[in-house]
Amino acid sequence: MTDAAPRAGDAILERGLFITFEGGDGSGKSTQASLLYRYLIEQGLTALHTREPGGTDVGHEIRELVLHHRGDIVPRAEALLYAADRAHHVATVVRPALEAGTIVVQDRYLDSSVAYQGVGRELDAVEVRELSLWATQGLLPDLTVLLDIDEADARARLDAANKRFDRLEAQGAEFHARVRTAFLALAEVEKDRFFVVNGAEPAEALATRIAEHVDGLLARHGGAAGAGDVPRDTAAAPAHGTDTRSL
Ligand code: TYD
Repeated sequence: MTDAAPRAGDAILERGLFITFEGGDGSGKSTQASLLYRYLIEQGLTALHTREPGGTDVGHEIRELVLHHRGDIVPRAEALLYAADRAHHVATVVRPALEAGTIVVQDRYLDSSVAYQGVGRELDAVEVRELSLWATQGLLPDLTVLLDIDEADARARLDAANKRFDRLEAQGAEFHARVRTAFLALAEVEKDRFFVVNGAEPAEALATRIAEHVDGLLARHGGAAGAGDVPRDTAAAPAHGTDTRSL
């Protein structure tokens, strides 16, 4: 793993920016998070691309357990496992990066716990949110991009990807419908933090729209990103970007 410390010459924000991507399984959020990360790096900004669960070595083990454990895990234990992953990730990766002026682009965060465990698993949404806030000492994103997509379209994408379903993906349509409704309700409550987009839109057009939105946020934040097309090639990111997803 390379060091996230910015090098001389990189554009550094005075304090970092925390951008999370949320949405149901098959909504395309991981693709969009990757595209935004690469866009920021291309702008010469210092960025970190990470995810939950699994953004640290401990988190990687929790991810295996919570997504692929063969037996039952009761909902409260599941919520605690996601919160444990989050606590360690925020303390050891996210907060230090933000303090160093890095833009953190993260695939899933506490809104996933509220939607999946709080509402999907029918625990209490407020309590689950409080649990995450306790775990992270109150860290909330500056921006949350919510990719909303019709459940049938999302399922079709997951089927086309032809991968083994994890414990959450394997839940039925009713569960995923609850999760979708929960995300939309969260976005409604925190309109300033959320940017809701249609996950069914073509990926490149969507990526450009998200990049423009982030440019606006950076301008208000004192950063220096310029508008531009989202890169299309898959070249490796320059060294001032760090990607924890391969942990
Ligand atoms: P994700 O990494 O998006 O899955 P994939 O690698 O298949 O794209 O997320 C893994 C699963 O974990 C997903 O079904 C949502 C679930 N999840 C929760 O239930 N609660 C949480 O707090 C988080 C972060 C994820």
